[in-house]
Amino acid sequence: MSTIGIIGAGHIGRAFATALARHNIPATLSNSRGPESLTETVAAIGPSITAGTREEAASKDIVFVAVNWSKLPAALAGLPDFEGRIVIDANNPIEAPLFKPADLGGRVSSQVFAELVPGARVVKAFNHLAPPLVAGDPATEGGKRVLFYSGDDAAAKAEIGALIDRLGFFGIDLGSLAIGGQLVQFPGGPLPALNLVKFD
Ligand SMILES: NC(=O)c1ccc[n+]([C@@H]2O[C@H](COP(=O)([O-])OP(=O)(O)OC[C@H]3O[C@@H](n4cnc5c(N)ncnc54)[C@H](OP(=O)(O)O)[C@@H]3O)[C@@H](O)[C@H]2O)c1
Repeated sequence: MSTIGIIGAGHIGRAFATALARHNIPATLSNSRGPESLTETVAAIGPSITAGTREEAASKDIVFVAVNWSKLPAALAGLPDFEGRIVIDANNPIEAPLFKPADLGGRVSSQVFAELVPGARVVKAFNHLAPPLVAGDPATEGGKRVLFYSGDDAAAKAEIGALIDRLGFFGIDLGSLAIGGQLVQFPGGPLPALNLVKFD
């Protein structure tokens, strides 16, 4: 099974870790302050989640990144080339307290993000719902909570689609980063914050 690392242990990083922990899937959680600052956090999430350094998290087969937009360059600086490993972009180009959209030069945020992770196969996912909906049980209202994903590499998307399925969500492939990333972009796209449920 693919190993998983998480860079960013805030609301969304912890929510993703909680979703993994529910299925006893191992992952290494990291932040800017080092593993010792995460001792209580990982203990509260569950035994499959361990604290590690940013470098340890970035060395895994699948690297989930959830960091404030303006801090992404520092959070991803100096890491080795990803050499084809998968990086999940859960980020949105806006942040508290001003909530002023970042200037993306007319590009989709995931395409800007991809330049920060050389060699990675980027999949956009887990960015459109509030953290409690990512962390909570996806079996809801008699159906499955919907998660969107998009990317330019079919095999990477298939792997993340399978992970989303394993976590109990209903995944919908939105296509390429240029198209799917735009649909799910916050702010700007039509899909963010939509809490959809798929019924059989
Ligand atoms: N909150 C939401 O509703 C939501 C929903 C969907 C997507 N998102 C997106 O997810 C991303 C994270 O949001 P959040 O709400 O989880 O933010 P957050 O609660 O503020 O957490 C940000 C995390 O990034 C870490 N970080 C900052 N600089 C770092 C560095 N240089 N190296 C390693 N880690 C670093 C912080 O670690 P330290 O605390 O140690 O500095 C912290 O764990 C954002 O792009 C946001 O747009 C958020």
